[in-house]
Amino acid sequence: MSEIEQSLLGSVPRGLFIGGEWRPAESGAEFVVHDPATGAELARVADAARVDGLAALDAASDAQPKWAATSPRERSEILRRAFEIVTARAEEFALLMTLEMGKPLAESRAEVAYGAEFLRWFAEEAPRIAGRYATAPDGRNRLLVRKRPVGPSLLITPWNFPLAMATRKVAPAIAAGCTSLLKPAALTPLTALLFAQVLQEAGVPAGVVNVIPTTDPGGVTGPLLLDPRLRKLSFTGSTEVGQRLIADASAQVLRVSMELGGNAPFLIFEDADLDAAVEGALVAKLRNGGEACVAANRFLVAESIAADFTARLVEGMRRYVSARGTDPTSTIGPLIDEKTRAKVAELVASAVGEGAKVLTGGEIPSGPGYFYPPTVLAEVPPHARILTEEIFGPVAPITTFRDEDEAVRLANASEYGLVCFVYTTDLNRALRLSESLETGMLGVNTGMVSNPAAPFGGVKQSGLGREGGAEGIEEYLETTYIGIADPMVRL
Ligand code: SIN
Repeated sequence: MSEIEQSLLGSVPRGLFIGGEWRPAESGAEFVVHDPATGAELARVADAARVDGLAALDAASDAQPKWAATSPRERSEILRRAFEIVTARAEEFALLMTLEMGKPLAESRAEVAYGAEFLRWFAEEAPRIAGRYATAPDGRNRLLVRKRPVGPSLLITPWNFPLAMATRKVAPAIAAGCTSLLKPAALTPLTALLFAQVLQEAGVPAGVVNVIPTTDPGGVTGPLLLDPRLRKLSFTGSTEVGQRLIADASAQVLRVSMELGGNAPFLIFEDADLDAAVEGALVAKLRNGGEACVAANRFLVAESIAADFTARLVEGMRRYVSARGTDPTSTIGPLIDEKTRAKVAELVASAVGEGAKVLTGGEIPSGPGYFYPPTVLAEVPPHARILTEEIFGPVAPITTFRDEDEAVRLANASEYGLVCFVYTTDLNRALRLSESLETGMLGVNTGMVSNPAAPFGGVKQSGLGREGGAEGIEEYLETTYIGIADPMVRL
């Protein structure tokens, strides 16, 4: 490990952040965070248990009334300061994410910009929380509709975007006037801890944001979900875990936001600009090493152009360099852990067993770390498992369609509906597809839809609610209606 890496790791807080203070877990327990490129230990972090989670809820609940009463401008300015601090410390955040998550530094830098933008976006949304005033149709009452914070919120974030998934939840909670408990993934807690330090420096009062890394997520979140002081759950992760959390959250009828799994189809029609389609395919497949719920999971290509597209995709995938993310030549880092890599390898083996051909990649390299090479599979039969399960790795399975109807039928044949990508130069077709595809998001001639100013989220088993855009803050607001009798109207 380089001196810069060591000194950065030495400066990151390792405790739980509760009530504005850094403290060890009540039990004194810690857990180890590893570098997925080498398997080496990076740091030991306090490991929250049930009692620590409840202490964080005490702090969030105590801070809630005062925080809800702050002015929107005050909350906005705190978020703006946090945006500026994260941006000024972008290199620290980027290196830390590369160390604990594995992605190349260039990708980590892009995530810092993406993650910081949620802070700036919601700084701008805080003063725009609006209500409504209307006259009832019979003219007797005035109808006043106002918004207020939902209350203490549990925010559960994944390991794949350690900063952006935290800012995408914490920033709208702050903007709306909600206090929160952030539970980052145990694989990547360091970025969330550094972020908590930044929030404190930006002026977030004690108890407003609490951070509780843990290796016992069920043991910590279970009691919180049963506690009537908690009013909201926002989760990003797998559909399987999301379903369990929704069931648990039903006990207190919590407001829930769920960003769950995806199985994004990437459709390329015969009229597409093929150079643009290949470029978009590489972004949609290999951003974050394929470890994104919006990653293209299946390539559906018009029969007449399939051979050409496939050859160009193989050429593009072969240009990627697998190396530790800190290596300046690295364009793809390791997968997060052995379990993830074994699942990717198993899906590839099962596709091959079902008749698919490996055109590039497909072999686990020797050496340390959880690397898996960019892989293209052709002639994947439409029923193959790899087309129905989320891959979460750099594997591009290709299958073909005869016409638009078949393309839509294949694309919609999934329990997921997060995002679809479509390449076509026919505007009418693009508009038709925007109506026939079952999806929360659609990329037309682009391999990247994620944007803090847009509502991110899915339909079907991909989730509930939206993050970002004008919709993002609504997830943290309740609606109160006040009926006021018009004193001028005689009853
Ligand atoms: C995710 O994979 O959960 C989020 C990806 C994104 O925000 O682009």
